[in-house]
Amino acid sequence: MYAITQDHYGPVENLQIESLAAIEPAALGAHDLLVEVHATSVTTADWRMRAADFPAGMRLAGRLFAGLLRPRNRITGREFAGRVLAVGAEVTRFAVGDAVFGAHAGGVNAEQIVVPEGASIARVPRGLSMAEAASLPFGALTAADFLIDKAKIQAGEEVLVLGASGGVGVYLVQLAKHLGAAVTAVCSGANEALVRGLGADKVIDYRSEDPRALWRSWDVIIDPVGKSDVPGYRSSLREGGRHVFIEAGIGEILRSMVSDAVIFGVTTEGSAAMERLCELVEAGAIRPVIGHRMPMTAVAEAHRLVERRHRRGAVILEWPAAGAPAEVVPLQRAV
Ligand SMILES: NC(=O)c1ccc[n+]([C@@H]2O[C@H](COP(=O)([O-])OP(=O)(O)OC[C@H]3O[C@@H](n4cnc5c(N)ncnc54)[C@H](OP(=O)(O)O)[C@@H]3O)[C@@H](O)[C@H]2O)c1
Repeated sequence: MYAITQDHYGPVENLQIESLAAIEPAALGAHDLLVEVHATSVTTADWRMRAADFPAGMRLAGRLFAGLLRPRNRITGREFAGRVLAVGAEVTRFAVGDAVFGAHAGGVNAEQIVVPEGASIARVPRGLSMAEAASLPFGALTAADFLIDKAKIQAGEEVLVLGASGGVGVYLVQLAKHLGAAVTAVCSGANEALVRGLGADKVIDYRSEDPRALWRSWDVIIDPVGKSDVPGYRSSLREGGRHVFIEAGIGEILRSMVSDAVIFGVTTEGSAAMERLCELVEAGAIRPVIGHRMPMTAVAEAHRLVERRHRRGAVILEWPAAGAPAEVVPLQRAV
């Protein structure tokens, strides 16, 4: 089977397509699934892991997580959708043939992966394609956790969403609306129609307007792109409001430890979070947003796009013919 691998942190030229031994079903652990991957996404987390490019003050923590000197996982990628090819002897939640999707830290840019059945996986909701399912875990799990569990958004609250057309933002806008909030979305003018279509009541183009210049105050400011700061936005936050950082430097993280008004955390994943995500999709609260769809051989281009921080929704990679032996052009250290 083929997989996207990297041996060292660095530029996209470090990515390579490698032929690896196929995984034998007999080698599966009792609680493992063998999954044929049809679609994966490239996210900001994948770019950060590839380049060891972590937010300010988080470089050591990032490397301790991803691998101190070189990537802990040679195979890249975290989000996937595919079909179960084989199950371990004690698997109860899934069966051969199930379409599944989820997030798995063990590297998913491969034709086959092994995932424990207790990991962040669920059956693909009815009506979704593999690409649509693969577009959800990173952004939508994060949006659900930060809006529902961490910020505890209430109906009627006024919410400012920065980075609204990006990987997490497109799900923040939809879910905040579903929860009954009034949503002001911040992105460039080019993406206004996209975020209005997702439910935004008002759109601010950050290139021509500073949200603070509106002299409005919000119940919740939620920032997945690290473009707001606590002192600068203090007067834009209502008494009792929450300034929520999904991307944060060390300053915001330290502030969140001493103030209830500043919230930072790490997305809680797991099978329960995936089941809630499926319920939200089936209820029509969240729909997948795919801005870019490419063959797996374009992985370097996908990473460059994500790194520029102007992607629209999810960036999806698919094996050239899902389910069949891939026609991959073997590449030397670059795609
Ligand atoms: N804490 C956690 O557990 C957790 C979980 C998931 C992700 N994260 C982190 O959160 C971040 C998520 O990023 P993402 O994937 O959503 O980012 P992204 O896709 O790169 O975000 C791009 C968005 O940001 C907008 N943008 C660019 N400059 C802006 C500015 N100055 N003001 C307002 N918006 C601006 C872009 O608008 P235009 O394109 O229209 O210009 C676009 O809407 C990553 O750093 C990731 O590592 C953390």
